[in-house]
Amino acid sequence: MEMETLRDLYIDELKDLYSAEKQLVRALPKMAKNATNPDLKEALMNHLAETEGHVERLEEIFKSLEASPRGKKCVGMEGLIEEANELLEEDPEEEVADAGLISKAQHVEHYEMAGYGTVRTYAMVLGEERHARLLQQTLDEEQNADRLLSQIAEGSVNLEAASAGEDEEEEEEQEARPRTSAKRRGQSASKRSSGQRAKAR
Ligand SMILES: [Fe+2]
Repeated sequence: MEMETLRDLYIDELKDLYSAEKQLVRALPKMAKNATNPDLKEALMNHLAETEGHVERLEEIFKSLEASPRGKKCVGMEGLIEEANELLEEDPEEEVADAGLISKAQHVEHYEMAGYGTVRTYAMVLGEERHARLLQQTLDEEQNADRLLSQIAEGSVNLEAASAGEDEEEEEEQEARPRTSAKRRGQSASKRSSGQRAKAR
């Protein structure tokens, strides 16, 4: 593809986003399936529906550009999805998996936000006002999804993950030392190696 003008770069970045969104449509059901927290599951499924809308908006833009959305693979999104898969392959404790899935999903959202912010601004510079509006709508939805994930993490999932795997440890500790402060427990929990946790499963 020619890369001589800002319009060329604009189309190239849009193709990249199109590939990213298509990959995400395929990946989100697996992430939602592996989430345990009901709010997280729901947020991921709602974002799947939104993501399908993001694909449609991009298709609309490509139609008006009389260009094909295909022909590019977003290796950035491929890598982010691969990292989510690697997390799940570790077979983490449920609560830890939820916290990890939020982390992976937020990496995805920030990656997309960077992309949409850029193409939205290019669209404005290029006088494509309708494109800019469509891209801004998607950007707003990515930002809302990111904020909701932060709320779910800070509201419950991170705290639940912080005490994951504590039960057996607490029993052991109670025999030796009946009263252990939550802080001390948290610290000792974080010191446990992943090897120990893997054995416990
Ligand atoms: Fe999206």
